[in-house]
Amino acid sequence: MNSLNFILVITFAVVYEVSAGYYGGYGGYYGDNEENDQIVGGYQAKRGSFQFLAALLRDDESFCGGSLITPNHVLTAAHCVDYIKQADYGFVKVLLNTTTIHPADDGAIHRGVKKIVHHRNYNSGTSGISVVSLPRIGTTLSYAGLWGTIIGFGRTHKTLAEEESSGHGSNKLLESSVKVITNSQCSAMYVDTRISSSMLCAHADGTDTCQGDSGGPLIVHGTQVGIVSWGYGCADPRYAGVYTRLTFFYSWIKSNTV
Ligand SMILES: *[C@@H]1O[C@H](CO)[C@@H](O)[C@H](O)[C@H]1NC(C)=O
Repeated sequence: MNSLNFILVITFAVVYEVSAGYYGGYGGYYGDNEENDQIVGGYQAKRGSFQFLAALLRDDESFCGGSLITPNHVLTAAHCVDYIKQADYGFVKVLLNTTTIHPADDGAIHRGVKKIVHHRNYNSGTSGISVVSLPRIGTTLSYAGLWGTIIGFGRTHKTLAEEESSGHGSNKLLESSVKVITNSQCSAMYVDTRISSSMLCAHADGTDTCQGDSGGPLIVHGTQVGIVSWGYGCADPRYAGVYTRLTFFYSWIKSNTV
């Protein structure tokens, strides 16, 4: 097999565990569609508009998102892939340059996984395709008050925090817009859970990321500033979506993609 056909999947830090509401990909991995969710309140993304968006597939089903940060590296959420053993890397596929899963667009690119690199804080060559830009090194912007774009193949049903999540992931790539809030506003929503400085929160009326969107990007003015991570419910007006804050991990990403 040609080694160029592999992508290094870098998994990302979710610095500590929250039992409820992870947008994780376990369901897709085990073939249980009930657990395999998407963007709530979104609309269909145009072909070619998010070439850097990766869908992580298992048994031909998308279980998480990711973003292409170099021609050979996909950034995703740690909880999307932390349970996948090296012997099983061959079962995971990375799909790029497509806005549908079944069937993928003409020109879609399929890759395998060569290696998965975990951030230590976590315990538990595609030439022609664009890569996403990451924040400049040393950036201290909080992004609060700015609108960002979320994209993914995850669940599409609004779910309150106390409800069981339901519904299937989307076969079509969906996008929507959410507004970044300050971490103190977010802490006021999540009174029982610490919102750390490595997290970023964003919300908007009636729209949110959901199960199956995990690992995908939050884009502000063309730069990826967050990785879809967790939240209570999906588009529950009381709770913002929580993202990994990329400025916090920038040097780690750089040192693992050289
Ligand atoms: C991406 O897909 C488009 C069609 O949607 C195709 O024209 C283009 O060549 C593809 N890009 C690559 C790098 O294969």
